[in-house]
Amino acid sequence: MARISFFEVKPWEITYLKKQLKGHQLQFFPEPITPENISKAKDSEIISVFIYSGVDAAAIKKLPKLKMIATRSTGFDHIDLKECAKRKISVSNVPFYGENTVAEHTFALILSLSRNIHKSYVRTLRNDFSIDGLTGFDLKGKTLGVIGGGHIGMHVARMARAFGMHVRVYDVNRNEFLAEVINFKYASLDDLLKESDIISLHVPHNKFTHHLINKDSIKKIKTGAVLINTARGAIVDTDALLEALESGKLAGAGLDVIEGEDLIKEENQLLSDLANPDKWRAVVRDHKIFRMDNVVFTPHNAFNSQEALIRILDTSVGNIEGFLEGKGKNLVG
Ligand SMILES: NC(=O)c1ccc[n+]([C@@H]2O[C@H](COP(=O)([O-])OP(=O)(O)OC[C@H]3O[C@@H](n4cnc5c(N)ncnc54)[C@H](O)[C@@H]3O)[C@@H](O)[C@H]2O)c1
Repeated sequence: MARISFFEVKPWEITYLKKQLKGHQLQFFPEPITPENISKAKDSEIISVFIYSGVDAAAIKKLPKLKMIATRSTGFDHIDLKECAKRKISVSNVPFYGENTVAEHTFALILSLSRNIHKSYVRTLRNDFSIDGLTGFDLKGKTLGVIGGGHIGMHVARMARAFGMHVRVYDVNRNEFLAEVINFKYASLDDLLKESDIISLHVPHNKFTHHLINKDSIKKIKTGAVLINTARGAIVDTDALLEALESGKLAGAGLDVIEGEDLIKEENQLLSDLANPDKWRAVVRDHKIFRMDNVVFTPHNAFNSQEALIRILDTSVGNIEGFLEGKGKNLVG
């Protein structure tokens, strides 16, 4: 019997997990890990979190019995892997649960912008049924640049081909077989930025991809292109994005993620940290971006389909059971 604490869980997930992990001592917390609640998990050998729990060295220190972290996400940049390696804590993620799910959401953002769905919605709420200013653009014949041709990126490429788009992919690894089957071309980052009408980000966030889209790379983008980010906020330098949207260099942006999204979600927490000007600046800047009518923002919701959520829980339970049987599954770091 293992002691397992789950953070960021909804009531229906609790019911599901209780059935799947019968016989273990389970604790559930609806909120992310915080300095206040972490001590409640001090006896846990395993914790399971989603992306809003910052599992840093300070948090890990407060969990002396911790042996495993099962993050219920693909990304694991909220976990201090170095500290985990030092403490021999095994970390597992959910590598494939939502590649089609996130790709479909990517197209929800693209189509909102290409056909002004967001503007139409707001207009009709005001009983205004005019179509002036709602002219969109076709996807057929346009070029989509996919930065990061992994699980999600390949589904985005496949869907783009169904719309009759040309697809360029930039990735440090190449899969020539898929390039032939899906019918896309690999490109250098510079060529992709230059040629694409829509650029969609699907790389993980790490030290190599941090601010990959910055002032300099934006200069190389075709004027009037649209940027879509469903990957991680910090892949884009948000100051540079704001400037590009204000100047018209970028015609629009579809964002499921943005730097500082954790601060926006936790504005109450921010109020207790009035002394930190950088945080306030990030929040004000994000709100400025959300108010632009050529920006569609969804609150890190791309993964959130019923089918994907069940796949996440099943894989996480499998990771935990694998760990308890001594067979690490979906290990990261
Ligand atoms: N918004 C959401 O709800 C949501 C949900 C799931 C995943 N994500 C994000 O999407 C990202 C991609 O997910 P995935 O399942 O496709 O991951 P993946 O690992 O299958 O694909 C990532 C691809 O990026 C490539 N890559 C890595 N570093 C690179 C670099 N420096 N330059 C160029 N290419 C590079 C890899 O070779 C790989 O092909 C995740 O890391 C996660 O951050 C977001």
